[in-house]
This record gives sequence, C-alpha cells and structure tokens, in this order.
Amino acid sequence: MALWTSPAASRADPVDDALVVRPAARLRGSPALPGDKSISHRALLLALLAEGESRITGAGDGEDVRSTAGVVAALGALVGRVAEREGRVDYVVVSPGASALVEPEGTLDCGNSGTTTRLVAGLLAGQPLFAVLDGDASLRRRPMGRVVEPLRAMGAAISGRSGATLLPLAVAGRAHLEAIAWQTPVPSAQVKSAILLAALAAGGGTRVTEAVATRDHTERMLRARGVAVLEETEPDGRHTVALVGPARVGAFDEAVPADPSAAAFWLVAATIHPDAELRLAGVSTNPTRRAIIDILRRMGADIEEHDRPAPGGADGEPLADLVVRSGSLRGVDLSPAETAAAIDEIPVLALAAAAASGTTRIRGAGELRHKESDRIAGIADGLGALGARVRVLGDDIEIEGGRRLRGAVTETLDDHRLAMTFAVAGLIAEGETIVRRPGSAAISYPGFFRELEGVRA
Ligand code: S3P
Repeated sequence: MALWTSPAASRADPVDDALVVRPAARLRGSPALPGDKSISHRALLLALLAEGESRITGAGDGEDVRSTAGVVAALGALVGRVAEREGRVDYVVVSPGASALVEPEGTLDCGNSGTTTRLVAGLLAGQPLFAVLDGDASLRRRPMGRVVEPLRAMGAAISGRSGATLLPLAVAGRAHLEAIAWQTPVPSAQVKSAILLAALAAGGGTRVTEAVATRDHTERMLRARGVAVLEETEPDGRHTVALVGPARVGAFDEAVPADPSAAAFWLVAATIHPDAELRLAGVSTNPTRRAIIDILRRMGADIEEHDRPAPGGADGEPLADLVVRSGSLRGVDLSPAETAAAIDEIPVLALAAAAASGTTRIRGAGELRHKESDRIAGIADGLGALGARVRVLGDDIEIEGGRRLRGAVTETLDDHRLAMTFAVAGLIAEGETIVRRPGSAAISYPGFFRELEGVRA
C-alpha cells in the first residue's frame, strides 16, 4: 500500500486524494483500536453534567468525539487532554455542574457527528440557555425531527431549518421539563439517550419504548453515576427504559473499552483473508454491541473470545480479547432486528457477505440511508465496482457471494465506515483498489491506515 496523501494536501488535486491498497500476502498482529465512540461521547457529556472532576481514560480520539469535547468546553467545563496514544486520549473534565452551565457565545459545531448533535440537544433541553447546533454538509442532511419532537413535548423550544427537522437547530431549554412516555418510531440509541438526558431535568417518570433494545451505554453510565434507570423487556422484544427526574449526575472516572465497531474491520479483514491471524485487545462485548461477532460466527468465522475482568471504573461493560483467524464464510439471512443490532457494521458485513459462499440478505436496512452518507447506495456502488453482486430491494440488501473481487475505484462519499470497508476489501481484491477521499476514516478511527500497513508486515 502506498500513496496516502493527506486530505489537506490533496484537496487541490482530487485525483491524488486517494489511497491505493494492494493485496496483502498475510495479515498478522494486534492493531491498536480506538476507545469506544459511543461511550466516549457519553462520558464527556455526563462529565459536563456532574459538578467537579471526572477522568476519562482511553477515549476515542476521532473527530466525532473531539466535536463533543469542543461542545462540552463551550458549555462551561474545563476539558484537558492529559495523555494521547495511538488513537486514544485521556481527558480530565472539570465542570461547574448541570445547574451552572454557561450559555455558549457561538454556534456549537457538531462537525460530522449525529451522536453529538442529538445527545447535546437532549442535554440542552433541560438547561435555561439558548444555543445553536450546527455541523458539516453531511450532518445538515440528517433527520433531526426524531429528537426535536420528544424534546418539544417535554417543553423545550426548538426551531430550525425545514420545520426543525434539519440543522442548524436553535434550542431554548428550560430548567424544569415535563416527563413523557415516548415510543420511538425507529429504534435509535441517540434518540433514547437524548430523552434520558432531558429526563434528568423533568419532574416525574419519563419512559422511552423501542421496538428492539438499542445500545444501552447511557443507561449503564447513568446508573454508575447515581441515577436509577429501570428497564423492562416485553416478550415481543419491545424494550422500555425509565427514569424519575429531577436527578443529579455524580462525577465518575470512566475507563473506555475498545470500540467493537472499529474492531469489526479487523474481524472481517482476517476472516476473508486466506492467511490471517489478528488479536484485538479489550473490546467491549456489551450484548447490545456484539451482534457483529455473533453474525460473523454464524457465517463460519473463527473468532476466539477471552473474557477480561472489566477495568476499574467501568460501568459493567463486559470486555474481551478477541483472536480472529482466516475463515470460510457462508451467506446469512439477517432479520430487521439483527440488522438494527449491527447497524454500524453493515458496510463491512456486506464485504464479508461478498466474500462468502451463497447469498446474504440484510433485511430492514432503511436507516442506513440516514447515516453519514446513504450507506445503502455507497455499499452497492463500492462493492459493485469491486465485482460483487449487490441488489437493493426496497430496504433490503441482497449480496450474492462467491465472486472474486478485483481492484477498482471506490467512492467513500466522505463516510468513514465506507472508507475503511473499501480499504479492507483492497487487502483481498486482485490488483489495486483505489479508495477515493479516504480521510473521513479519522472521524471514528484515527490511525486506521497506519494499522492497515502494520498488519500486513
Ligand atoms: C449511536 C447510535 C446509533 C449509531 C451511531 C452511534 C450512539 O445511531 O448508528 O453510530 O452512540 O448512540 P442511532 O441511534 O441513530 O441508530
């Protein structure tokens, strides 16, 4: 592999803003993983709500988490970066606490991060402040009505473009909100978390019900910080979380596990490569995040899991060291609930499906159209260019495996998960794979391309 030109240097010449990936003879090693992105965002925001000092060790140092750190500082906390290593950062946050946040002078820049935008909207709903949230071109296309509606129902005044369904959004919050019972139209941990953060400022019990349980980091982390959060699952899988406000969040030291959504690229890389063994240290195997491991195993992947005692300060997040070796995959049929559980891993799972024998069906993937790019189109075009047979049938993606992938030009749409998926494809595709505009990988995984060089050594 060669020719990684920095986005800044290559902007003048878009043809050069590309990564060339050549097939690897073998894959070995332990790629460094970033701290979990979802937990890192939440640790920063909960540190803002807690009066005093909170330490966050091993946070993801991608651009999305940096966006959240910037917002936390703009709202009145001191945010110190005390150590940095291999895509991770340790933060010390000293906050005046939820009752003494500062009205930001300027727009809150959420960059490319949907999680920052939606969680901060929830947090601001319960603050007697005026603030404007904005982000990059991709974020300005993403749906915000799903979070604005419940926060308005709780009493926040929110206005914004296109009937407050698109950024920029102006939020005028209130110190005392109304409790609500809310059913999310699409399962979304971001919406659930926004409502729970607002519920801290509401009088009485707020309930959020989802068709299937989404990632539960907010619930775990609130509990670890002294807030009682109740959960209930019905026989049909519907899941309700509830908390009684007003409630105070205590300061807490968080040790962030490795991000399973980042580990997914290596799980697939090693599985589809004929001579591979990779080790992935300290990955969160939280039941709401581990679907990618279980789905790949069902397809035939060879993934060993060695449980680790959780480090001090963790919120009961289960952790494991993973060892993944070359495997031989067969196609799989994913239900909409399974697709939702692996939503961030679908791009790289689609690559695994292209390398498998037989047909894979990924059902109910419509939400992928509303991520950092239209990921359904991005997957179909990118893997299609590499020679895979991908069909989109409404909200379902069908991939006929078993065809040899060959190098081609792939378009990332400035979407980090597409960039990393096509780079991994290049490790096994015949000839050269060109990944155009790969810089977005730094949104969630700074150092990814360095690690990609490292594992082929
Ligand atoms: C996230 C939730 C998911 C996921 C995103 C991170 C979170 O989004 O796709 O990358 O940290 O809560 P939705 O909640 O919108 O499905």
